[in-house]
Amino acid sequence: MPAVTIKPGIHWIGVNDHTTDLFEGLWPISREGVSYNSYIVKAEKTAIIDLAKSIKVDEYIDRLNEIAKVSDIDYIILNHMEPDHTGILKLIRELASRAEILCSAKAVPMVENFYGITDRVRAVENGEELDLGGKKLKFFMTPFVHWPETMMTYETGSQILFSCDAFGSYGALGGGIFDDKNVDFDFYEKEALRYYANIVASFSTQTLRAIEKLKELPVSVIAPSHGLIWRNNPTRIINLYKQWAEYAKTGGKPAVTVLYGSMYGNTGAMMDAVTQGLTSTGISVDLFDVSRTHGSYILPSLWAKQGVVLGVPTYEGRLFPPAAHFLDLAGRKGMKNKKLAYFGSYGWSGGARRELDKILETLKWELVDSFDFAGGPTMEDFKKGEVFGKNFGNVILDNQ
Ligand code: FEO
Repeated sequence: MPAVTIKPGIHWIGVNDHTTDLFEGLWPISREGVSYNSYIVKAEKTAIIDLAKSIKVDEYIDRLNEIAKVSDIDYIILNHMEPDHTGILKLIRELASRAEILCSAKAVPMVENFYGITDRVRAVENGEELDLGGKKLKFFMTPFVHWPETMMTYETGSQILFSCDAFGSYGALGGGIFDDKNVDFDFYEKEALRYYANIVASFSTQTLRAIEKLKELPVSVIAPSHGLIWRNNPTRIINLYKQWAEYAKTGGKPAVTVLYGSMYGNTGAMMDAVTQGLTSTGISVDLFDVSRTHGSYILPSLWAKQGVVLGVPTYEGRLFPPAAHFLDLAGRKGMKNKKLAYFGSYGWSGGARRELDKILETLKWELVDSFDFAGGPTMEDFKKGEVFGKNFGNVILDNQ
């Protein structure tokens, strides 16, 4: 795929990744892919903004060379040091031997730690401008969106904000790179929320701070490091990120994530009754089997929905292990202000609830209701489960 012009003299030269299985070695993207968006700004002097993960390097250099000889690059601007943005830095620096690396002060030691580069590395400050002779770049420090050294770069003439991880998404670019009308927005918005919940969520306060800091900046294009470039409606992705970041305080929208697991079908059968009760209230419900679903796909629902129903059995006197894992993951991602209802089967004695109480103390989630039952559920138990689901649905709806 050739370089793509965003505005005269400003081009996308990124890499579309359809082969990596796990982003950060953790999050599945084998079906969805991801893009590492790199940009080149050419005026009297030439700058590249962010690079790419260390794959398809020949393709990257060919694309770059279409716009400017790599040896003629004057500046390599690193908005962020995570290697999905910088993996090819060592090689590019070798080829662009006279280029100066510009990054935040916190990134300077990281450039050395990750790539052993100390020469011609310069820290830029918040609000500092770089005159390329015909185009001007301005830098804004946006710490912890996603790492402490992260910054954004703004091209003042065309009002393009190179926003780094902020406003990014999973999902390789499907030919077009812009938010044009023919794009499958459902796919990219779903993948943007999954990316947010997997990668950015822990830093929601800092994300809101960055959005606030830049709110007076006129922006005509949002050019993130991953996913679509928003030129038609940049406000759309800014508002989505703002809404998602605010869920850290509000707990999410009035809807429910059901996490269930079942060893021999008893808790699973009860899940059907509970879900029937829940949906009878009209509330929106997402359902996940914790034994068979990767956390990457569960986190977006957990993040965005205030209610959580956990239906898992007692396992060796404790909580069913995959459920404990997901609650731990939710805590690590800073999920707060959730309301939870628990149900589950046990064989000879309970125990799941005991461990759950301890976990919820740490998570600071509210346990609204719970019940357990020995062995297989009776018809009486099913009726109880349906009422339990209905009551919980109403609690979440009433809390709007
Ligand atoms: Fe796109 Fe924080 O890496």
